[in-house]
Amino acid sequence: MCSSDSVFSLSDYGIDTTVRIGSGTVMDELEVLKGQKIYLAVSRRVFSLRSDLAERLPRDGSIIIYLVDDGESCKSLSGYGAMIGDLLLHDFPRGGIIAYIGGGTLGDLSGFVSSTYKRGTGFAAFPTTLLSMVDSSIGGKNALDYDSLKNAVGTIWNPSRVVIDLDFLDTLPRDELYNGISEIVKYSILADPDLISSAGFRKLAQRDVSASADIIERSIHIKSMFLKGDVDDRKGGRIFLNFGHTFGHALEAVTHNAISHGRSVAAGMIFETQLAFDLGLCSETNKNKVVSMVVSSGIDLPGLHGIDPSLMMKYVLNDKKSKEGKLIIPFAVRPGKVDLAMVSPLEFEKSLMEFMVSGYEQR
Ligand SMILES: NC(=O)c1ccc[n+]([C@@H]2O[C@H](COP(=O)([O-])OP(=O)(O)OC[C@H]3O[C@@H](n4cnc5c(N)ncnc54)[C@H](O)[C@@H]3O)[C@@H](O)[C@H]2O)c1
Repeated sequence: MCSSDSVFSLSDYGIDTTVRIGSGTVMDELEVLKGQKIYLAVSRRVFSLRSDLAERLPRDGSIIIYLVDDGESCKSLSGYGAMIGDLLLHDFPRGGIIAYIGGGTLGDLSGFVSSTYKRGTGFAAFPTTLLSMVDSSIGGKNALDYDSLKNAVGTIWNPSRVVIDLDFLDTLPRDELYNGISEIVKYSILADPDLISSAGFRKLAQRDVSASADIIERSIHIKSMFLKGDVDDRKGGRIFLNFGHTFGHALEAVTHNAISHGRSVAAGMIFETQLAFDLGLCSETNKNKVVSMVVSSGIDLPGLHGIDPSLMMKYVLNDKKSKEGKLIIPFAVRPGKVDLAMVSPLEFEKSLMEFMVSGYEQR
């Protein structure tokens, strides 16, 4: 192991996962696992960008490589069936480890397969997008889509190891990088306003290894803090992680994903803060502080002109996070302090209508 690598356990948060962050960690880790039966699902795109992976993977038969055309369409019932079929073809044993090298979509598929194949195998994650490093690889949630219904089927199955190799960030397209940056901004607003400065965002955008390692590690701790006591997503801590996502998911849906997840959530964090202000739950000063944290991240905020708020409302009303007819909206009272608002659909719609007209202009 390289001396500059950071290795830490998430057991204090009730999560049975060890995380390792460093440069060049993937190969080193696969070397450690040598001798065990490993089924390694690899993003075809990442595999083609990193020719050294193919050259250096052990050829002693201990690792079975399964290449996947990743992206949202891989986490489907047919993608699931294909991977299960391949595992059976190789007579892969229950005592083996299913691992993935890829982003959140391949992670969701592999995690679901690992939790169900022969009633559960070992599981390890090698996330390659910033979003999967700071978000989807942590906390054990996985899911498949059913037709257009996102995350319709899923389980909670934690990887025993999450190995983050910062070298993967070098090839990550800008939009993908900002999908992760948006989640980091969220963590910072929710729990640690000092997590990242404008200079930090610039370093992250430049893929500076040591700045990235520190920000990723702190982000993982923040996410885990919200998972503590709610790993199974039943008691409510996880719901704070939905900040910005009620609006964000609706915006992604009405634009058929033309606006990326990161940009949609960034707009969502601004809208949901405005909503809290409209409801008298957050002061103007604090609203402005939250908005400026989103803006200073450098995320390209999407234009909202021409987007139909009534159509967005249809998606908002389908949101799973509601109780007794009210939407449960997490918001920041101020940077670093969060609360939940129970919002009637009418209140949400009124703020939404105004927001879609005035956009990010202060009201
Ligand atoms: N399980 C969870 O807790 C959780 C949390 C958040 C999001 N998600 C899910 O994660 C998915 C999104 O994940 P994502 O943002 O990682 O997207 P992704 O997995 O679709 O990857 C995005 C694209 O980047 C490519 N890519 C991956 N790594 C690369 C690299 N290092 N260099 C160049 N290209 C690379 C992929 O091939 C793909 O085309 C969604 O399906 C979402 O529902 C799950």
